[in-house]
Parts: sequence; C-alpha cells; structure tokens
Amino acid sequence: MRTVTRASELSRAPQGTRAVVMTMGALHGGHLALVRHARAIADEVLVTLFVNPLQFDDPADLEGYPRTLDADSALLEAEGVDILYAPDVDDVYPGGTPIVTVSAGAISDVFEGASRPGHFDGVLTVVLKLMHLTRPDVAVFGEKDAQQVIAVRTMVRDLNVPVEIAVAPTVRDDDGLARSSRNVFLSPGERADALVLSRALFAADAAARWGAAVPEALRAGAEVLASVPSARVEYFAALDPLSAQPVRGDYRGEVVIAVAARVGKTRLIDNVSSHIARER
Ligand code: PAF
Repeated sequence: MRTVTRASELSRAPQGTRAVVMTMGALHGGHLALVRHARAIADEVLVTLFVNPLQFDDPADLEGYPRTLDADSALLEAEGVDILYAPDVDDVYPGGTPIVTVSAGAISDVFEGASRPGHFDGVLTVVLKLMHLTRPDVAVFGEKDAQQVIAVRTMVRDLNVPVEIAVAPTVRDDDGLARSSRNVFLSPGERADALVLSRALFAADAAARWGAAVPEALRAGAEVLASVPSARVEYFAALDPLSAQPVRGDYRGEVVIAVAARVGKTRLIDNVSSHIARER
C-alpha cells in the first residue's frame, strides 16, 4: 500500500478502473466491507482518510472524533488497499475554509440535516473535492449513512459528476448493533441500551412486511424505543429513498426507516430499507 499525504502525489494509472472509499478513519468492519466491495468491482482501490472539519457543527464532536491512523493503516494494508490518501487539513483546504461550497438543498432540512446544521453541505463539499482529487470511476458508500447516500447520489445527478456511486450494506454485530466509529464511546451498559435502535427498526420493518401502513409500522418501532427511556430519540421516521423527505401516511413503496438517538453522550444513527405495501 502506498500512503500519500498530498493530493499532488496521487497519480492515476492510465489503464484499469479505480474505486475510492472515503472515510474519516477509526475504521471498523463496516469500512472494511466497503473496501472489499471496492476491491470486487475495481482494479485499484484508493481509500481516503480525512476528518473533515466542514461537516461538524459541534467543535467538541470534531475534537473528540477518534483518530487511530496507525491501526487504520494496518487494517487497510491487510485488505490489500493500493493507495491510502491521508491528508492534513491544509492539503484539502489550502485556502482555509472554502468560499464556494456545495449545498444539499432540501436534504439539509430534514433528519440528520435538521439535527446537524451545515452537515450535508460539508459532506458534499468534501466528497466533491475528494472526487476531483482522486479521480475515481466509482465511489463506494455505506448504507448505514442512508441520507448521506441520498445526498451524494443527488449531487452526482444534479451536477453531472462523472463518478458511479456504489452502496454496500450495513455491517452489524451479531446482536444487531450497526458498526459505527462512535460505538467505542459506549460503556457496556450503554451498548446494551443502544441495541434498542436496531430492534425498533427491525420491528417496524417486520410490521411493514406483515402489511402495516407507514403509521402502524412506525408505531410498532416506537413502542420498542419507548421500552428503553435512556435512549433519547431525536427522530424515528420513514424517508423517501430518493429525496430523503418524510413519506406521508398513505405512502406505498420502498422506504428507509431511520432512527437517531443519544445513548449517554453518544449520538447514534441507524436505518433499514423496507417496503410498505398497504395504504392507510
Ligand atoms: O461517511 C463519512 O465518513 C464521511 O461523511 C465522508 C463521506 C468520508 C465525508 O467526509
């Protein structure tokens, strides 16, 4: 694996396809699944590791974000990654905070966007910059960040970015907890409480698949969430998988059921794709 810290060192082979996996480090099984997905679909795999200040609305969250470069690098080496681009802030934002940025539009008004002002604009700005810097044919993102996937797909479509978007499924521990870099902050008791997120999503999905309409499916999940009051729910909702907007009660078709909650000091998100067959 070649590790570079400057984009100017990122040459591209004239032949073969390149897949990029963009990360903020603190790598876990979910990221490695993205890398394996990339490995399966491209000749060359490039991983970026950059904690993007632009997407943090809370300075304490940015400051406290886990940074484990040596361990991350060893994991990527073992996965047969070809290039690791791990820049400093100055290499990505040489002029300081950019004047021109990408706007996620209405996607910022809802759910993760509403909870974290400026988050998706920051994500899209760095994703577009990293696409320009790394020149991939395909970029692989995780289903766990469903709204981020919708935002990236929308940007690529609306701005004619010539990069294919691939999505790899969420990786879960055996008990259902979605892998996240933030899980390291959970005490054993909090980790047990955090299981309520996936249990609620699975309950809503099961209800939908048994024929429940949107309100009933969400009610089934909400009952599970209510059983663990220490998980402080920010939202639990059904989203349109194309626009990320909340669906109406009489919606039928594919949905993303998504949850965000704080367990102790740790904010967690999770989602499942589901299908609503019955109109209210
Ligand atoms: O999903 C993430 O880790 C980040 O939002 C990304 C895509 C690497 C952009 O900073």
